[in-house]
Amino acid sequence: METAPFQFTCSTTPLSLPPNFILPEDKRPHISQVSTLNSIPIIDLNDQIHARENGDFPSLLVEKISRACQEYGFFQIINHGVPQELYFTKQVKLFNYYLNTHGQEKVNTWSQSFSHPGHPIEDLSHLLPENPPQYREVFGEYAKEIGALMIRLLSLISQSLGLEKECLQKRLGENPSLKLQANYYPPCPEPELTLGLGSHTDVDALTILFQSEGVSGLQVIKNGKWVAVDPVPNAFVINLGDQIQVLSNGRYKSVQHRAVTNKVKRISLAMFYGPSMDAVIGPIQELVDEAHPPVYRNYRFAELREEFDRQRGTRRMVKEVFELPKK
Ligand code: OGA
Ligand code: NI
Repeated sequence: METAPFQFTCSTTPLSLPPNFILPEDKRPHISQVSTLNSIPIIDLNDQIHARENGDFPSLLVEKISRACQEYGFFQIINHGVPQELYFTKQVKLFNYYLNTHGQEKVNTWSQSFSHPGHPIEDLSHLLPENPPQYREVFGEYAKEIGALMIRLLSLISQSLGLEKECLQKRLGENPSLKLQANYYPPCPEPELTLGLGSHTDVDALTILFQSEGVSGLQVIKNGKWVAVDPVPNAFVINLGDQIQVLSNGRYKSVQHRAVTNKVKRISLAMFYGPSMDAVIGPIQELVDEAHPPVYRNYRFAELREEFDRQRGTRRMVKEVFELPKK
């Protein structure tokens, strides 16, 4: 953990960017060049229920997920069944915490992140903030709902790869980790000169992200260009992490993304589902054949985490270390 560069909790926004936030020219976001067309697909999870009612299989839903995973590595879901009042209540505020997880050399990014484990909730509740007073309860319910949604999505993604429903969940092991990361992007005087989060891929298997309404900030790479993912009311953004890329033998990609800042504040809540530390991760056998030789070697997830820690603060290339030489 690093110390806060300055308190974001003050109510006034500085008029210009302090020098330790100004990125070198080639690393700046070039916001005017970002596409807002062709944004990531929006998938209705109710399609599953309709398909079940009609006795359809393979459902259109699985096909949509397959296409989204192949073409974008990102999608948004609506009608996911998580009660709206759990994402966020007015009293749950996150400004008072600071954790730098995406440090870039010498330059700070314009965000504050707050992160903690989300599972098993019985063991960790006493570690969570006591204030605001409903935090533990609301977070506990949120973690339970999101945990269930993770399992549902892993099943759909397994099917979209032609695998049996429980395949990915099983491969990720019996003690998966669920982690929360709350990101606060304070009002920024000069969004062109800095980033909220630098370009990265998520290291775990799957991410469910809730973003506050009305302000756009998340951008994903599509065909070499940045595409803005505008918030859709009551939707979650889903993205594939590095472990799905490895398990799918590169069939699905863990896509680079970043967050830009705005003149007004923005908040997002990410939940990451990661493997058991002792899970062995590598290309799933059914996805390997003569035409698709294994791209990665098997590794224990703990091994990858060590590599991740070694690369902290750099532009990470973690899964690349486990690539097999091309024949
Ligand atoms: C992350 C992330 C994007 C956002 O926390 O890994 O990519 O919009 N967040 O906050
Ligand atoms: Ni991310």
